[in-house]
Amino acid sequence: MRLTVEQAIDRLKRGEVISLPTETVYGLAASIEFPQAIEKIFELKNRPQDNPLIIHLSHINQLNAFEPELPAGFEILAPAFWPGPLTFVLPINPKTIPEKVRAGLTTAAFRIPNNSTTREVIEKVGPIVMPSANISGRPSSTKPEHVETDFGMDFPVLDGGFCEKGLESTIVMYTDGAWKIIREGAIPKEHLEPFMDVSIYSKPSSKPICPGQKYRHYAPKTHLIETTYFEPDFDGIIVGYTDRNYPHEAKIYSLGLSTAPDEIAQNLYATFRQLDADGIHEALIDIDLPRHDVFKTILERIKKAAKS
Ligand code: TXA
Ligand code: MG
Repeated sequence: MRLTVEQAIDRLKRGEVISLPTETVYGLAASIEFPQAIEKIFELKNRPQDNPLIIHLSHINQLNAFEPELPAGFEILAPAFWPGPLTFVLPINPKTIPEKVRAGLTTAAFRIPNNSTTREVIEKVGPIVMPSANISGRPSSTKPEHVETDFGMDFPVLDGGFCEKGLESTIVMYTDGAWKIIREGAIPKEHLEPFMDVSIYSKPSSKPICPGQKYRHYAPKTHLIETTYFEPDFDGIIVGYTDRNYPHEAKIYSLGLSTAPDEIAQNLYATFRQLDADGIHEALIDIDLPRHDVFKTILERIKKAAKS
């Protein structure tokens, strides 16, 4: 069910869960004021209780209510990337945030999305918690139809069209005296570097600093096999690029031009979901791509999707 902006605001103010668009992916939204709505988000997604939610703001001033400790460099990074797909994990006063939202941690994640309609909604409702609008483990939703596939045709969605970025936000955290990327995302490391020294956090995957990283993610039901070589007589399914030649008998699901990372990123989850909709059991996916910038996030998401 598609909502008007007024209906979206009204439902959130009444403590309901709806889906809102962002520039990255669609979110499942609830006002931070309604514990039952927050509970319902976990139920709807089948989300593990130890996986905290991102708090979405419409203005940086709304941060003050959570009494955050702002690390050196935040004052440079936040204005440079907000509104936008950069999420900060900050130490906060735990009393100001329901335990469920932060999964019992003394930090919380924040971002200001770069979607003016959704910011208008947040401006009227106040801070909103919003995980990606997909059943846990499935690819995120980048179109309203994807949200309806996962949660049913009656589920209320504010239609914002096809999400521009198509990949979740990059999450950063200041720890051990430096900025670390704890989830790669729509903003690659190379775009942060002119502003800040930043590295990709690495620790044994058994104990990730970002709780969500330990779960299987972004995966279609289709068994994906990463490859850079295709037998000339291969006649199965290939997820590839419009500017490449593949075996004549193969059926191609195209992610766009191999030289256009933004296009590939936007199409990635929609293509995964199309494979499922078409009932494809197995597909080869062409991972012959550069390993920098947004390509790096794309390859990370493909790797996670192919791991089963
Ligand atoms: O682009 C996005 O970030 C989308 C849109 C809707 O804004 N949201 C999103 O939310 O991807 P979700 O819930 O799918 O992923 C949030 C990630 C999880 O991996 C979670 O573990 C991590 O953020 N996270 C949240 N709070 C955290 C905290 N205090 N410390 C470490 N990681 C945290
Ligand atoms: Mg998610």
